[in-house]
Amino acid sequence: MKINGKTYRTIWFENNIVKIIDQTKLPHQFVIKNLKTVKDSINAIKTMEVRGAPLIGATAAYGLVLSILEKNDLSFLKRSSEELIQARPTAINLKWAVDRMMKKLSGINSNENLKIALDEAKTIVEEDVTFCKNIGLNGLEIIEEISNKKKDTVNILTHCNAGWLATIDWGTATSPIYHAYQKGIKVHVWVDETRPRNQGANLTSYELNEEGIPNTVITDNAGGILMQRGQVDMCIVGTDRTLSNGDVCNKIGTYLKALSAKDNNVPFYVALPSSTIDWKIKDHNQIPIEERNSEELSHVEGIDENNEMKKVRIYPQKSKSLNLAFDVTPAKLVSGLITEKGICEASEKGLKDLFK
Ligand code: MRU
Repeated sequence: MKINGKTYRTIWFENNIVKIIDQTKLPHQFVIKNLKTVKDSINAIKTMEVRGAPLIGATAAYGLVLSILEKNDLSFLKRSSEELIQARPTAINLKWAVDRMMKKLSGINSNENLKIALDEAKTIVEEDVTFCKNIGLNGLEIIEEISNKKKDTVNILTHCNAGWLATIDWGTATSPIYHAYQKGIKVHVWVDETRPRNQGANLTSYELNEEGIPNTVITDNAGGILMQRGQVDMCIVGTDRTLSNGDVCNKIGTYLKALSAKDNNVPFYVALPSSTIDWKIKDHNQIPIEERNSEELSHVEGIDENNEMKKVRIYPQKSKSLNLAFDVTPAKLVSGLITEKGICEASEKGLKDLFK
């Protein structure tokens, strides 16, 4: 998708260097960062220079390529893979990508390692682009139906950033929106600010602006009243891990939006590639929920009148805080899962019928 009219992807490989867009600087600065070592990749994932389930999976895959470039040694590669998986615990795409890479690399002669790793990382990336594009084409049908009935702008609420910046291209939740807009359907997006990292305000709004899609940033607590007023036609969110029973783990606050949507008869859809499905865990209490640094709550970052980035404290130093990064929306609150293979019910049957 575009930034300043120029087409980008979120990650690419050039001259043995992994290139990323540093998302901690957006929307105020556009900085392309070089990752040269596996440690750089781990750090980029931990500090959220890259974030979003599919993108951290791709960064981990390229991280293993960097690991081989640094030292083509099996024990180093294994250590790298473990450290990558531990960088962020909740999004399953990270482990999925590392396991997929390690499976390809097991039993391979060390001379072939680099080529095989690079080919597989590129395949993961290309696959994600195709999956996200197809998620968009499938989700487009829902938006089109609402638009045909309503004969007016379709208002869509989204939480966090499940846009192209969270994937490689297109995004998950935003892909149906981009496709609808490109088809000439009138859309407007309510963008949840998404405290504390403000992925909605900083990233979703930014990427929608760059594509010319009308959007309005709202506080995380505003969705309820907008739904009561009939100003939301549907919600679409992304997910970091969806269980085979259809329970959806996503950015903290998603659950409250789903409750409000249910109470107001607003359809609540979750968009995801199959790489985000956890076929193993059956009970959502077993999902590792990331607990992040309390400084993300106690401080906010932005630019001052001189365009300089500043971080300021916003509440008493003595106050304790708890920064849970994700929550789980039970399947019963989800109207449907929009995947690359089609739309299904959020249930074991729904998912198994699509992904035999
Ligand atoms: O903490 P983040 O920014 O990595 O969280 C991202 C989300 O919760 C996204 O909604 C999710 O990864 C889906 S991305 C297509």
